[in-house]
Amino acid sequence: MNKKDLNDYSQYKNYLDLKHITSINDYTKLQFAGNIIKNGGLVLFPTETVYGLGANGLDEEAVRKIYLAKGRKSDNPLILHICDIEMLGQIAQNVSDIEFNLMNAFWPGPFTIILNKTDIVPSVVSGGLNTVGVRMPSNEIARNLIKYSGVPIAAPSANISGKPSGTNIEDIFSEFAEKVDYIIDGGDCSIGLESTVVRVIDGIPHILRPGKITAEEIEEIAGNVVIDEHVLSKLEANKKVLSPGMKYKHYAPNTKCILVYDDDNTETKNKILELTHKVISSNNIPLIMCLDENVEFLKAELDNKVNIINMGTSLEEISKNMFSNLRKADKYNADLIIIQGVSNKGLGLAIMNRLLRACNYEVY
Ligand code: TXA
Ligand code: MG
Repeated sequence: MNKKDLNDYSQYKNYLDLKHITSINDYTKLQFAGNIIKNGGLVLFPTETVYGLGANGLDEEAVRKIYLAKGRKSDNPLILHICDIEMLGQIAQNVSDIEFNLMNAFWPGPFTIILNKTDIVPSVVSGGLNTVGVRMPSNEIARNLIKYSGVPIAAPSANISGKPSGTNIEDIFSEFAEKVDYIIDGGDCSIGLESTVVRVIDGIPHILRPGKITAEEIEEIAGNVVIDEHVLSKLEANKKVLSPGMKYKHYAPNTKCILVYDDDNTETKNKILELTHKVISSNNIPLIMCLDENVEFLKAELDNKVNIINMGTSLEEISKNMFSNLRKADKYNADLIIIQGVSNKGLGLAIMNRLLRACNYEVY
């Protein structure tokens, strides 16, 4: 394929468009993609959280291709995606009651649990650990793909390592079209943030990565929850972590970003304004990403002279569009992206976890 074709993904030959699907029967088209997975190929597929870069999770060679395509460090383990509870027995063992209750409450859905792995799971999947992350997605395309492939699908978020995760095919087509065997376009991901990752330690669920399933919801099921300290703070060098993913750079646009947040929105918008003026006065170009409630104020104060990306109103809307907004932000050729944060409660914790990383923990 030549570079020109990479901008026209509908021309891509190994491509399946299920965006406008109306009937569950149409999913039989997925058999072809399922076969590719079973036979060791790579498939880009949608889930309710973000797109996944999938391969047969029991095939060592196939899994290696994922690491290569993403440029991912080999000690950063992958999640295995299953379509039913029978598949769980193949890959995980010694599941405790609390773990079972959590799966029962949040599957299928945006929830990943770290369990003791069985020998059948290759160590390339687990990054050499004796545990494995498991998730049963709710997205019908994803679940049927797993069913047709007949194996657990190993899939990280579909993005080159370090970049924002892909939540629609347009955003990631050029990154992966030449590296995968098949692409399934399921439209925009409904959640837009990766799954909540939990590990139960001494009977208490620890959130290693926050997501749509919130700390509050987990506490309701397990009676207790711990949010890992690295969810909102930078990792010190050489510190031991419960999840290797915490060590690596994440979600960052190419442009430098800085986060602005105050509990009082009047303070927040004044800080955004102040910082914007500073950037302009040092002859640099700012770009603002802020919540809907502040767009008109900032436009007026800045005489419409600064580009503003509207992040939305509700936390759901902000999360759904966040990664594609971070990708879009790079196209403005700004020198600094000034991003408004949100309160850490509920889904806000997951949003702040991603935004802090996108900003390399730089807060104004
Ligand atoms: O929503 C999602 O989880 C998406 C979709 C495709 O399902 N997948 C995803 O995978 O976000 P990935 O590889 O981008 O992130 C998985 C995270 C990483 O931070 C990794 O370190 C952690 O989960 N993880 C995986 N297995 C683990 C294990 N055995 N122990 C600790 N952390 C683990
Ligand atoms: Mg990822």
